[in-house]
Amino acid sequence: MQRRAKAFRRPYGAYHSDRDGHSDEELCRVGHGTPCGEYLRRFWHPICIEAELGDVPRAIRILGEDLVVFRDGGGRVGLLERRCVHRGTSLEFGKIQEAGIRCCYHGWHFDVDGTILDTPGEPPDSPIRHKLCQGAYPVEVWRGLVFAYMGPPEECPPFPVFDAFEHSEAAGVLRVRHSPCNWLQVNENETDPIHLSFLHTRLFGVQFEPVYAEIPTMEWMETPTGMIYVTVRRWGEYLYLRTNDMLLPNAVRIAGINDAEGETLFDRRGSTFSWVVPIDDTACFSIGWSDIDKELAIPGRTGYVDRRSERGAYVVGAGDVGQTGDPTYEERQRAPGDWDAWVSQGPMTLHSHEHLASTDRGVTMYRKLVRRGIRVVAEGNAPKGVHFEGTGDRPTYCHNTVARIPALDDPEADQRLRIAFGREVTRRILAGEYSKEEPGCADPRGLEEIRGALA
Ligand code: FES
Ligand SMILES: [Fe+2]
Repeated sequence: MQRRAKAFRRPYGAYHSDRDGHSDEELCRVGHGTPCGEYLRRFWHPICIEAELGDVPRAIRILGEDLVVFRDGGGRVGLLERRCVHRGTSLEFGKIQEAGIRCCYHGWHFDVDGTILDTPGEPPDSPIRHKLCQGAYPVEVWRGLVFAYMGPPEECPPFPVFDAFEHSEAAGVLRVRHSPCNWLQVNENETDPIHLSFLHTRLFGVQFEPVYAEIPTMEWMETPTGMIYVTVRRWGEYLYLRTNDMLLPNAVRIAGINDAEGETLFDRRGSTFSWVVPIDDTACFSIGWSDIDKELAIPGRTGYVDRRSERGAYVVGAGDVGQTGDPTYEERQRAPGDWDAWVSQGPMTLHSHEHLASTDRGVTMYRKLVRRGIRVVAEGNAPKGVHFEGTGDRPTYCHNTVARIPALDDPEADQRLRIAFGREVTRRILAGEYSKEEPGCADPRGLEEIRGALA
């Protein structure tokens, strides 16, 4: 430790750098029996897009486990261990049946819950099929996504339904994006709002909207479902508040990347709802819904949507800019995106070599919440987010809010005003004090009340 501190203080000091960095294994390892693997196995996770299930089984790897997912002739979806319980042949070569799937090698026939329906080469009175089961996990299909629960069957929680599942734009486009790195690196991006000013705006040109060049006031708050960040930018006579929602353990609801021409309160349009699902320790995929409507995309601005024609004076975008490794290496060097930032941290970043700063408080808070959940599971209890005490759908809090609040002459006083605005709006939203009747539209009464509270 002494050597490392010295190296980072000294110009041309790389010779003294610590070569023995390590990752935070408690947070990163996802295999069965690992602390985080057990934590993640207490939740439902989306594993694939339902439409990808065709007439042959699909091999997938989730949380370090090799599995096969398929829809049988009766329309039921099965998620089975890939190795056949007989002699280990992969069920990705199995034959889908009216009920379940049959292994290609000796024809053993498994139902979607793993029950062995038939062992055709064995004598008819063979008891073996009653003594065994193929490993299976329960699944739920919701709005085109297949979800699985891979934890102890006796602890299987109800499938969690969030309010945003029913949001009119939440079910727009399904997408899956792979990243060859640990799942935490990808999720931490969503707790890190300041990179919007640098990676997405100042350094390589405006990837979303010019307003993001400004460094916002930033706060992070724990919510009943996880945590949010609250960022406020001054934008002429307006204050622009953007809040992203991190839903424990690995889901995020992202506010529209919009410049909100005009006032709005709790505008949840232009959003995405996605999960970062570990494939294993060093790979993951993002999967979820986005409201990107490709038919409405503005030519030349991939992923952008102009909804002005639909619902008033807003340009809403939630682009795929920089979210994949699809561009060439040179293109990515000249205009890197999120994918380049998190993948280049390494297959599993060396946490011991990080130097977290004041703007990383969201990263710190998120890790703390995940670690807390890991330890709660280790003690034999249900972590935050598994069960929901309220009634109805679970709330989500991501939004954009814009209010006309002219700048104060004193920059420090204006800074305090921005923070107070962010806190006042957030307090109301966490308490449910806003008009839910017309989401995404100006709420003059609500905004007047907020202005009054700040006066
Ligand atoms: S290995 Fe699957 S039936 Fe024999
Ligand atoms: Fe980003």
